Amino acid sequence: MGKPSFKDVFHNARVTLLGNAMLLELENVNKTFSRSGHPIAAVQNFSYCIEPSQFVAVCGPSGCGKTTLLLICGGLLRPETGTVALYGHDLYSLSPEERAAIRSAHIGFVFQQFHLVPYLNVVDNVLAASLGLRLEHAMEQKQMRQRAIELVERFGLSDRAEHLPTELSTGQRQRVALARAMLNRPKILLADEPTGNLDAENRDVVWEHLRKFAVDDRSVLLVTHDAAAAARADKVVHMEAGQRLNTIS
Ligand SMILES: Nc1ncnc2c1ncn2[C@@H]1O[C@H](COP(=O)(O)OP(=O)(O)OP(=O)(O)O)[C@@H](O)[C@H]1O
Ligand SMILES: [Mg+2]
Repeated sequence: MGKPSFKDVFHNARVTLLGNAMLLELENVNKTFSRSGHPIAAVQNFSYCIEPSQFVAVCGPSGCGKTTLLLICGGLLRPETGTVALYGHDLYSLSPEERAAIRSAHIGFVFQQFHLVPYLNVVDNVLAASLGLRLEHAMEQKQMRQRAIELVERFGLSDRAEHLPTELSTGQRQRVALARAMLNRPKILLADEPTGNLDAENRDVVWEHLRKFAVDDRSVLLVTHDAAAAARADKVVHMEAGQRLNTIS
């Protein structure tokens, strides 16, 4: 049997995918920005594989390229060279529409600056993640709303369910962004400093949810500059000046 097309992968989003394939595989990825005519090598010759049910932390100092790497992994920033493959399919060889569909179904993203929709309340912000799935049936839509409400509760935000992002603290907004990224049960959750604005209690709650998420065919890739937090992951990838150093299991 040949390799399934991305269309098949997308339509089978809710079933176990492609047994042995690596969940996410980066090969020789490079991304250079230019500032005032000077090149900034944000990610250099980066190769790495993420298997199902792994919880991986990328750790490194500010400016070393963590966010750039995560955006590349999420299909949001095309590298100059190298490939990023989800279940063996190169994300950047897809059309923008296909890539958007794959991202909606398989990839959850927590942005460092959250990017919540300012005019939607907490539950609707979480629910917004399901728009890309184009759910047609009222029953599916109802179930998705119920899941959004449960996630809001799970992250301790029930009493803020109808508040707008401007009415929330930074840590509360961060938790809304996490709930939104988990809504579609993506195969990979990419989280940029997901506990950076949280107090110790909420940090532990979020960490626990992330860990529970990385089971079976799902994985988590988070970035942080907090080495102590990163040490709690299954694997730690150290990054410096755009390059991958060692990986500690
Ligand atoms: N759009 C851009 N244009 C120009 N330079 C950029 C751009 N985005 C990032 N950079 C530069 O690329 C390098 C890596 O940035 P990146 O945001 O990936 O770092 P980071 O490790 O996430 O840092 P932090 O821990 O502060 O979030 C930095 O030197 C940054 O200034
Ligand atoms: Mg960053």
